[in-house]
Amino acid sequence: MCGIVGYTGQNPAANILVTGLKRLEYRGYDSAGVALAERDATGTYTLNIIRRVGKVSGLESELNGHSSTSTCGIGHTRWATHGRPTQANAHPHISCDGRIAIVHNGIIENFAELREELIQRGHHFSSDTDTEVFAHLIEEAYEGNESSGIPATHKLLDALRIACTQVVGAYGVAAIAADEPGTIAVARKDSPIVIGRGEHGSYVASDVIALIDATRDVVVLEDGQFALLTPNKIIYTDDQGTPIEPAVTHIDWDIDLAEKAGYPDFMLKEIFEQPRVVRDTLVGRLTGAGELDIDELGLSFEELNLVDRVYVIACGTSYHAGLIAKNLIEAWARIPCEVEAASEFRYRNPIITPSTLVVAVSQSGETADTLAAIRDARIKGAKVFGVTNVVGSPVARESDGVIYTKANKEIAVASTKSFIGQVVSLTLLAMLLGQVKGKLTTGQTRMLFRELGDTAEHIQTILDTQQQAIQSAATACKDAPSALFVGRGMGAAVSNEGALKLKEISYLHAEAYAAGEMKHGAIALIEPGFPVIAVATKSAVYDKVLSNLKECEARGAKIIAVATEGDHEIEAIADYVIYVPPTREAFSAITATVPLQLLAREVARLRGCDIDQPRNLAKSVTVE
Ligand code: M6R
Repeated sequence: MCGIVGYTGQNPAANILVTGLKRLEYRGYDSAGVALAERDATGTYTLNIIRRVGKVSGLESELNGHSSTSTCGIGHTRWATHGRPTQANAHPHISCDGRIAIVHNGIIENFAELREELIQRGHHFSSDTDTEVFAHLIEEAYEGNESSGIPATHKLLDALRIACTQVVGAYGVAAIAADEPGTIAVARKDSPIVIGRGEHGSYVASDVIALIDATRDVVVLEDGQFALLTPNKIIYTDDQGTPIEPAVTHIDWDIDLAEKAGYPDFMLKEIFEQPRVVRDTLVGRLTGAGELDIDELGLSFEELNLVDRVYVIACGTSYHAGLIAKNLIEAWARIPCEVEAASEFRYRNPIITPSTLVVAVSQSGETADTLAAIRDARIKGAKVFGVTNVVGSPVARESDGVIYTKANKEIAVASTKSFIGQVVSLTLLAMLLGQVKGKLTTGQTRMLFRELGDTAEHIQTILDTQQQAIQSAATACKDAPSALFVGRGMGAAVSNEGALKLKEISYLHAEAYAAGEMKHGAIALIEPGFPVIAVATKSAVYDKVLSNLKECEARGAKIIAVATEGDHEIEAIADYVIYVPPTREAFSAITATVPLQLLAREVARLRGCDIDQPRNLAKSVTVE
């Protein structure tokens, strides 16, 4: 959550910071700000702090009114945790004398005690944030070091290191000081930081996407490492101040990933990438002998064969991918599988034995609740398998094995292509467990694998042919105060994802219900015109879904159905039908989800909502 960026070099810093912040805005957009080291006519440096509530565009307009010549600065885009989204709480935060400024991602858990102590020592606070203590702690250490003989260019870094020893929690932090113009000190613990050298200077950010225009060779700072950036070089140290030479990672993904490439929003672009995600996630996963090959599995077949219980733990959309996995794991491997919100799992006392497999699903690989649940499960003796989209993310690092979803960078806050990557990956895991348990033959596996691959083409067909039907359906329900999503089996799992998508980007209330449960209460909501969105693809329970829809129709519901191509029976009940190509029921979740993503997006568009950056949300949820 939140995004940080910093630059020191030969070019004006303000534009570089704003461009970087725009790229990071998906991580939070409650407020944005920069600190620029400015030199006045007398040659004295001061820090110019400019902050605005709201999106980076507001900050950009403000900066356009300043004629900054600064070539060194730091910037931040915030998702509020401690303190409301006000200008006072926006980063950068400054020391009492205004000569040190910092930007921070993460949470300082002991900020209340630190703040109290700092106030007693005479510091003045101007925000409600946890972050501000960092600025004052650096200030103290900086002044305290004045007489210690530390060379001037290293003072800020030393002060930052001292401040880090006092702070408990997570941080990615960048600091500048008016007395050390042209330098940026950086530290990391449990919050990502990447650093790189470009042709015209040195860059730091919380995500590589902010500096990819300048360089593709970056250092991913490890926990406990520090860096001092100057225009011409970067020094890295460990937490004792000893110089280190960290590994350089080459970023090979295409810059187009950071751009909309002609689409009106990232969400639509990412929905259209889904056929590619299916194909990429499957590449190299089946051997010539018909065996599944998950090279980052990290668990032996013997260990997998011992598994007698599976928990899938995840949050939000990733949790819904888990609901689909449960159906497949139980069907193909005959292993009991529970799906649990990571935020619940971590505070329960679930039954875990050495033969329990915990599958942690997270697009970002940094969701705080999922990470905490992984740690808890491992302490209790479970094997943990991660499913994530981010190579080297904490979920990948802290799991025994991992499968990457190959969705590539997802920028829209609402997950779409990463969900499809998760479902495909979890389907592979279910097939693997089925093989290991002797329930699926290699012949069956080959057939399933081929049909799973066919879903790429099915998604393309939906994208090519169903836009008009989706637009009509969206127009019909855009003004409804509420909607129900219903289905059975796989359809029930998919309904959850459909309802979440609609809620988060269109702000329409929506609820998912197992269709057979409607008659036990929720059907009371239905009155003439009430939208019921049904996943009614052909399956073993198709007739049952149809009966449930008839009950809704009888009460005047407006029915939008996602149905299988060639099904004309549904047209007699549904007001709007969106067709998907026929697939095996096991794979219907992949195809049926796509129209629901498009429907939610179209409703949001018609309602004039911000599709990529819905209110109150952020892409990665790194707080509890
Ligand atoms: O990065 P993760 O998959 O762990 O994120 C989990 C949820 O925060 C995420 O899926 C969220 O629900 C999305 N906004 C859904 O579109």
